[in-house]
Amino acid sequence: MKAVLCREYGPPSALRVEDLTDPVPGPGQLLVRVEACGVNFPDTLIIQGKYQQKPSMPFAPGGEICGIVQALGQGVSEPAIGTRIAAVITYGGFAELAVVEAVKAVPVPAGVEPEAAATLCLAYGTVLHALEDRGALRPEEVLLVLGASGGVGIAAIQIGKLLGARVIAAASSDEKLQACRAAGADALIDYSAEGWREQLRGLTDGRGADVVFDPVGGGYTEPALRSIAWRGRYLVVGFAAGEIPRIPLNLVLLKNCAVTGVFYGDFARREADNNRAMLARLFEWVAEGKLQPVISQRFPLECASEALEMLAGRRATGKLVLVNHAAASPRP
Ligand SMILES: NC(=O)c1ccc[n+]([C@@H]2O[C@H](COP(=O)([O-])OP(=O)(O)OC[C@H]3O[C@@H](n4cnc5c(N)ncnc54)[C@H](OP(=O)(O)O)[C@@H]3O)[C@@H](O)[C@H]2O)c1
Repeated sequence: MKAVLCREYGPPSALRVEDLTDPVPGPGQLLVRVEACGVNFPDTLIIQGKYQQKPSMPFAPGGEICGIVQALGQGVSEPAIGTRIAAVITYGGFAELAVVEAVKAVPVPAGVEPEAAATLCLAYGTVLHALEDRGALRPEEVLLVLGASGGVGIAAIQIGKLLGARVIAAASSDEKLQACRAAGADALIDYSAEGWREQLRGLTDGRGADVVFDPVGGGYTEPALRSIAWRGRYLVVGFAAGEIPRIPLNLVLLKNCAVTGVFYGDFARREADNNRAMLARLFEWVAEGKLQPVISQRFPLECASEALEMLAGRRATGKLVLVNHAAASPRP
């Protein structure tokens, strides 16, 4: 099989497509022919050794896949060979074949295309877990999304709207804000401009946002926390800006708010049943036409480095996906 391999930590340009022996699924595992693999910010971190998990070398990055089950490891009876599944796998998806823990595989219902299924798991799974489970977002509440044109950001706009919130999207350029508008945001803020906190106050009658979804960190976090409403929930999702902010805890006391961590990968591992049920709900929304992942660009496996450079260079909007045309097969 072909795989995009990381042999030593470095930039995306150091990745190489190589031919490898096909992997064999171990006990409790499935072998999956990958049809599509979502591209995510953590992929840019894991190849530099900057992610929480550090796989042994060499490894292929790629944390969310959709594909067809080819073989079952010992002790696995389902999903059956030929089933189309999706899964969050942390790494190993930038390849023609991937080994997946059977417990993580979710069958993809009819009506959900492989590219949509592949891009739905990590970003949309993170967002639904964050907004509903961790943030207790209620209908009519105000949700402020930072980095709102990125992969998880745009998902937060869409799911925030599906949960009935009023969504304010913050991003760094007009073009990015237009993508947020197209995804359903009710109001837009250019957070690279001076005075964005005043703009937010104006948009919320001085109350601030009930829930803040923050996948960016850096210099954006403290002003956003200062702009949270009484009893607000601040969701710590990621640090795409590179810097992990340190916040004065008195702000948390004064706002009577909660600062809540979101670690979707571990949620999916520790609470596999809850995660499968949540992903099944996301797939249902897609099949019913209520949700469509925003995919801005598709790449062949050979162009994985290009896709990662685009993400790391802050040039992507919505989701990027690697598509393995050779694997695409009619629905079993
Ligand atoms: N906690 C979890 O379980 C979990 C799960 C998935 C992802 N994440 C994290 O969430 C973050 C976003 O992931 P993503 O896949 O949505 O990434 P993405 O598509 O690249 O979006 C990140 C956004 O952050 C903003 N940004 C600000 N400074 C940046 C910089 N220096 N470099 C790159 N982007 C910058 C950009 O928007 P503007 O240009 O508009 O500022 C960009 O749209 C990452 O830190 C990722 O690790 C966490």
